[in-house]
Amino acid sequence: MATNASVLILVGSETTATLLCGAAFLLTTHPEMLKRLEHEIRSAFRSEKDITLTSVGQLPFMLACLSETMRCYPPFVAGAFRQTPKDVLIDGKFEPQGYAVNRDERYWKEPERFAPKRWMDGLEYKGDQLDAMQPFSTGPRNCIGRNLAYAEARLILAKLVFSFDMSLAASNDHWLHNQKAYIVWDKPLLYVHLLREAVPDSEREHHIY
Ligand code: HEM
Repeated sequence: MATNASVLILVGSETTATLLCGAAFLLTTHPEMLKRLEHEIRSAFRSEKDITLTSVGQLPFMLACLSETMRCYPPFVAGAFRQTPKDVLIDGKFEPQGYAVNRDERYWKEPERFAPKRWMDGLEYKGDQLDAMQPFSTGPRNCIGRNLAYAEARLILAKLVFSFDMSLAASNDHWLHNQKAYIVWDKPLLYVHLLREAVPDSEREHHIY
């Protein structure tokens, strides 16, 4: 029980926290995406109390933002190497040294770009091969906490964006660059300004509906 508890605490907390840090950074550095997300969340709910594990399931753009965050900044790094150390054959296919599937132009249009809409229906990124990304791994020993991770991340991000206007502290512009990975990412502190959304709930109803 002690061993299982320590596994669950490590893999069940740091991974989801990393995903949310990555989302906060990528959204605040792409304000047009953050605006669209704010609009989706603030028009879907009248009050923070309406945001529940069930109701967050109806926010397609937010899910796309979380998926795109995991492509650009996969939270799980221990043992799941993201680059081939030398030229190798994988499933009979040659992959050169330094190959990284989440940034491979064969699978992603503009792989270096944070583009949540590639996860939604539409023509622009139609050719993307979405199942090339497997942040929870695949097969019988893939992540047992996948659904819990999605539920937690959706709930927290929706409540955060509903209630606060977020912006990145100026000193954090390069937060994601040059991070080293050990068991998890060795991430520097991420400073984000949170400004309480000024419109009271009662007025927001009027404003939106
Ligand atoms: C964004 C969040 C998460 C990501 C990206 C993630 C990723 C992964 C990956 C890639 C594996 C496979 C590891 C391997 O093959 O060596 C894994 C396994 C596992 N994960 Fe997660 N995980 C996340 C959240 C969680 C949460 C919230 C829990 C539970 C509370 C959890 C519990 C586990 C457990 C117990 C395993 C081992 C499963 C087994 O060996 O059968 N994970 N996770």
